[in-house]
Formats: sequence, C-alpha cells, structure tokens
Amino acid sequence: MVDHGRAEKLRRALERVWTRTDELFGLLAPGALAAQPIALRQPFIFYMGHLPAFAWNQVCRGVLGWPSFDPALDDLFARGIDPMEADGFRPPPPDAWPSEDRVIAYRDRVRDALRDASEELLARAPTDGDVLVQNARIASVALEHELMHHETFLYMLQQLPPELKVRPPSLPPLEHDGAAAPRTVEVPAGEVRLGADFETLPFGWDNEFGRAEVKVQGFQIDATPVRNRDFLEFVDEGGYTRRELWGEADWAWRERHGIRHPAVWRTEGRGFMQQTLFEDVPLDRAGDWPVFVSWAEASAFCRWRGSRLPTEAEWHRAAYGTPGGAVRSYPWGDNPPEAHRGNFGLRRWSPTPAGRFPEGASAWGVLDLVGNGWEWTATPFGPLPGFTPYIRTYPGYSTDFFDGRHYVLRGASWATDETLIRRSFRNWFQPHYPYVFAKFRCVRNR
Ligand SMILES: [Fe+2]
Repeated sequence: MVDHGRAEKLRRALERVWTRTDELFGLLAPGALAAQPIALRQPFIFYMGHLPAFAWNQVCRGVLGWPSFDPALDDLFARGIDPMEADGFRPPPPDAWPSEDRVIAYRDRVRDALRDASEELLARAPTDGDVLVQNARIASVALEHELMHHETFLYMLQQLPPELKVRPPSLPPLEHDGAAAPRTVEVPAGEVRLGADFETLPFGWDNEFGRAEVKVQGFQIDATPVRNRDFLEFVDEGGYTRRELWGEADWAWRERHGIRHPAVWRTEGRGFMQQTLFEDVPLDRAGDWPVFVSWAEASAFCRWRGSRLPTEAEWHRAAYGTPGGAVRSYPWGDNPPEAHRGNFGLRRWSPTPAGRFPEGASAWGVLDLVGNGWEWTATPFGPLPGFTPYIRTYPGYSTDFFDGRHYVLRGASWATDETLIRRSFRNWFQPHYPYVFAKFRCVRNR
C-alpha cells in the first residue's frame, strides 16, 4: 500500500528541484547553451540533458526496469567526466548535440516518468528487499545528484562572460559587514567517529557509510576561514613564486598554467577584482569574504603561515565534537539548518564576510564550518572501513575517485541545498581545480 503522504512529499521535493533547475537554466542568454566556460567541464547543453538522463538511467531504467523511450539520449547524456587536465579533453562539437527543443522534450518526458516512478517506488518499498527501493533511496540518488549539479552550474555560470547570461531583475544584495575578528581556537585531543550507520539515515551516498574511529591529537584551528585580504598578503609577499611553499605536482601545475592568483580574482589596473555571478567586485570590498582557491593554493598558503590544512577527522572534531564528548548533528547543535546558522541554501548568491553567523558556531566557537564555501581538508578521498558501493546502478560514484588524487571537502557552500547538509556528507575534488566554491582554514599542532 502506498503511503500517499510520503509519495506527495517526494513528488514535492522533485518538483522543487526541477523548478530550481529551470530557473538556473533561465539565467543563460540565448546561444549560451553551447558555451563551455570551463575547459574541464562539458558545455551547458550537456547538463540540460544529463540531469534527466541520469535520473532516467538510475530510477526508471536501472531500478524499475522500464523500457527506454530514447536510448540514444539516455546514452549521450549518461555521465559527465572529470578529467584531471584539459589537454586531450574535447567535448563533442556544438553541432553534435541534439537541439534544445529535443532535449527539453526528453527532459519533460523523464520528469513525467519520475512522477509515476516515485509512486511505484513507495508502493513497493514496504515489501521489496531492494535497498534502492526501500525509502525510495534511488529517488534520492536522482534528487541529490541534481542538487549537486546546481553548484556545478553556478560556478560555470560565474565563468561565463556577461553577454551570455541574463541578470535577474533583483538579486540578493552582496554583504560586506559583520565579519568576526580572526582568532585561534584550541581543540583538545579526542576520538572522532567518521561515517554513518546505514540504518540511521533515510538516504546517504555509499562513501558516507562505514566506520573509522580516529584518535585526534589536540590542535589549534582558525575560528574563521582565510579571507581574501589574508590571501592578498600571501600574493603580495610572493607566495606564488616561492617554490618551497608548494608541493611538487602543485608547483608544476602552477608553472604550466602561469598561475599567479586565485582563478576567481581578475586583475584590473593595479588591483584585483573578485568575481561573483553577475558582477566583479573590487577586492577590498570583498576583503572579508573567504578566499576561494584550489587545494594546491590553500596548502601553499598554510605552509607560508607555518601551518597546514586540517585532516578530515580534525575538521569533524572542530565541527561536531563537544567538550563533554557528545557529538552534535550540526556545528550549532541538533536543530536543522536555518537561515541564521550560516550562508547556505542559495539564499544569497555570493559569499558573506567570514564568521558573520555567530549562531552557527561549533561547541569550540569555530565559525562558518557549514556554509559560505566547502572546506578543503588534507585527507585524500577514500573509503571508510566497511565501505560498500551499494548503489548498484552507480557503482563508480565514489570508487572512480579513490585514486589518491582527490581530496575531501566538508561543510557546504552558499549554493549548497539544505538537503545535502548532514554530518556524514563528503565532497571531493582534484587538487588543481580552482572553480569550486571552496574555502579553507589552517590548523597547527599544539
Ligand atoms: Fe552528474
């Protein structure tokens, strides 16, 4: 028997995500669908087809076994790629993609199918032995995948020239006030448990499950993320030219591309401008915002400061640990994410000054851990003990990246939906990818 309340809730969640997807694509000016603003990513038209194709391939074809109505598009749009370098990566030429009308018709037909599919999944869930049917987990795979791509879309949009985007008539105002003064917080030694138990979450990705118990030594951590103004000092003091501050592969990457400042800063006259979605802002106005850089640049900055990036376990302890030993669901406690806790959920379309949300502080007084930018950690992305790639329709979701060449990010950015904010959620990127809304903070041994 289908629980109509749950079916309705699931359908509402899907409709909400699709509405946002359509709003985001509405920010592209005519002709921009073929644009490919980041060499390591596909053109926008790919993502317009990829979101429905992924959902179809996972839910309708993969788990429910429905016959395909357009196998060519299911296949063409099946999977994005994440090359380490742009050399040799060539997406199909613009005329190789189907027309926008065809992609939209495909998208709409998939959405209709998913409305029926969510009903069927919930009807089967109580008696079906398939974990992907139970809790309609496979619908969450499609839903969360689409939410994650909203961030991909937004950081691609940020790289697009102004004539290829449509500035909405009203935008949330950029915020420049309310930063917290930088300080260092002592976190005492303690035990961290990474990973969730499968039964305790209605849905989680494969890499969230398993169990790692890690003893963490006491450490000092920045209470707020590194700001643009801090990073400017590093740039001004020659941080990009001092070989000893950089790892070997990181230095080679910096040399190869002639990198001299963060990718989201633009040089203008003698100063810098910080990119946002629809305008560039003089860096001194964005001085209190966290700096968004690659892992390589974050690591070099930390070395310059005589510090290092936190490990995933240290980050976890700073975020969720407490002096009494209890573990919180969120840095601020157990209440769900709300607007006054941090800059997430696309309420704003830009970063906010570092530490501007005191009510989001962790038990140790560390600010901005969840929201305002993902946070780089020193930990290579890998499986937790007990890891199982249980999403059989997508076995490579995590395992394709267990290669020692990707690093874990935790927390959330301003563009991260609340659905993705949970203690076990892990994000990852390669160390030389500078476009993500990713910030960092430094730690030191005690
Ligand atoms: Fe994808």
